[in-house]
Amino acid sequence: MSIMPSRAVVSTSAITNNTRLLHDLLRENTALMAVVKADAYGHGLVRAAKAALAGGATWLGVAHIESALRLREAGIDAPVLAWLWTPDAIDEALPRAIAAGIDLSLGSHEMLAAVQRVARQLGKRARVHVKLDTGMGRNGVPADGVARLARMLAAASREVEVVGAWSHLATADEPDGEAVVNAQARAFNTACEQLSAHVGPLQLRHLANSAATLTRPDLHFEMVRCGLAIYGYAPLPCDLPLVPALTLESSLALVKQVPAGQGVSYGHRYVCPSDSLLGIVPLGYADGLHRAASGKMSVIVHARSGSVMVPQRGRICMDQIVVDLSTVPDAAAGDRVTVFGPGELTAKHLAAAAGTIDYEILTSLSTRVPRVESEA
Ligand SMILES: Cc1ncc(COP(=O)(O)O)c(C=O)c1O
Repeated sequence: MSIMPSRAVVSTSAITNNTRLLHDLLRENTALMAVVKADAYGHGLVRAAKAALAGGATWLGVAHIESALRLREAGIDAPVLAWLWTPDAIDEALPRAIAAGIDLSLGSHEMLAAVQRVARQLGKRARVHVKLDTGMGRNGVPADGVARLARMLAAASREVEVVGAWSHLATADEPDGEAVVNAQARAFNTACEQLSAHVGPLQLRHLANSAATLTRPDLHFEMVRCGLAIYGYAPLPCDLPLVPALTLESSLALVKQVPAGQGVSYGHRYVCPSDSLLGIVPLGYADGLHRAASGKMSVIVHARSGSVMVPQRGRICMDQIVVDLSTVPDAAAGDRVTVFGPGELTAKHLAAAAGTIDYEILTSLSTRVPRVESEA
């Protein structure tokens, strides 16, 4: 048990159940990759990976090779795709990844040359997924480079096995994003055909993120890659009963009465309009409460008389916030506080207060907030 005053309680059963709900949307021959990058969106890499695998995911996806290796070190032998690496990886990360049987994303002839060189040195065939830039304008080979890369991959077949091809959607969660999604899907199909003409049939084509998994069954192909929804948040309105898996909780460090006119926190951006009961919650921007949410967020205080949502006042500090307990006269130091979790106050609410997205709220919870696993 940590001696820190706050904690993030992670429900592994929520992750398993959310994964199962997503898996149930898929055709029998479509696999589910659980995206566990960024420490599984703040939930804890290994515990989230295990929970998602228990819910029907058969693949894991991470940004960095380091995370993929940590999954292997934890004894997880499910296929893992790592998709973001630089030329520096050639000395250590790539050899370790290929030796550990980690699938690598590859989106340029320079990346192919690096993988080929390491595979040759190791005497082991590297497994790659060709990253296609179908319109995201980010990683991957652009449409006019696919044919050349495909020819090079065909020539490298002794060292490199093309397991699949993939791309990422830019607008699947935007209300008016359909035209771009459709254009990306067309570009994806064309590029996959070009590739398979040179390297043979592709075992795995994957394009859909959570949003497209929920809304575009025509784009599921042989695999979908879900992140956010596995953790219980839908990137767009949907009927699936997803349950947020992480609850950020703390307790009141101090409760005190202040007179009308009392300025609160740095800059006195809030001045109590009347005599007020204030409480201190030991969580601040160093824990991941975005300072931009100052004066706009709420928390739930679990007092003896019941659970009440109360407003945060003044600026969010590095380590603490001040909340207004005037509507909870029996609030006392030690009362439990929920900042977000399943129910009426989720990471989406904090994101709205901070002017950001739930993804950023979850992934910016700092490491000093201990993660506590709950099976409930
Ligand atoms: C390449 C890639 N695929 C899939 C995902 C999962 O997206 P989501 O969390 O919206 O399901 C991400 C996350 O940003 C990603 O970067």
